[in-house]
Amino acid sequence: MILETLIHQHTLFTVRMTNTERDYHGYTPMDYDADSETDEVYQMCLSYLLAHAPIEPDDVVLDIGTGTGIVALELASKCDHVLGRDIYDEWLRYAREKAEQRGIENVSFGHGSFRDPNVDEPVDVVVASYALYMAYDEGGEDELRGAIDGLASLNSRCVVIADKMSFGPVQSPSEYETLPPMGTVANLLVDAGFTLTDIEIITASVGVIIATR
Ligand SMILES: C[S@@+](CC[C@H](N)C(=O)[O-])C[C@H]1O[C@@H](n2cnc3c(N)ncnc32)[C@H](O)[C@@H]1O
Repeated sequence: MILETLIHQHTLFTVRMTNTERDYHGYTPMDYDADSETDEVYQMCLSYLLAHAPIEPDDVVLDIGTGTGIVALELASKCDHVLGRDIYDEWLRYAREKAEQRGIENVSFGHGSFRDPNVDEPVDVVVASYALYMAYDEGGEDELRGAIDGLASLNSRCVVIADKMSFGPVQSPSEYETLPPMGTVANLLVDAGFTLTDIEIITASVGVIIATR
């Protein structure tokens, strides 16, 4: 019983660590990249995003919640340039190092949040991969609405959300992270002025929504 309680608490703690800047201690950007590389669902989601995001060669793309820059660096060859934004400066430093190592010059990384992306040029496409669900996990629908409204304020042609979201039955409160129902994400995008042009279910808890003006 004591062991079970300890395991439960450890699980809660470990998972909480992924949710905010202060909680990343002990989980390095290298760990994240290694985990993402072997995570089949993440890779399927990324492949879908790369194949279907309507990105043109002249586009400026914002990758919000860029983390270690996996998506931003993949998108660099498809557009004019990518702006990677995140609230976690240590991971941004690591993303910059990767860009340098790979000789990718049309990606820049800087501090920015969903509500305040810190972008001072027109953006054609906004991409959010495995990031927006954190807004819902932290503050429910109000926080997610604030996040989506923040991105919508950039007036981009298109928003691509490749993310954790629930396509299945409502989650029980005991589950460690609360995912937004797909319908909630979709409705908030419509409220923000977008039309949904593609919804792809990767698994019951991961999917891609493409929304255009
Ligand atoms: C699981 S990582 C995903 C990173 C990357 N997009 C990918 O697909 O690998 C989630 C990222 O979202 C960032 N994040 C969380 N809340 C955010 C916010 N309010 N504004 C911007 N980024 C945020 C975290 O710092 C983290 O780097």
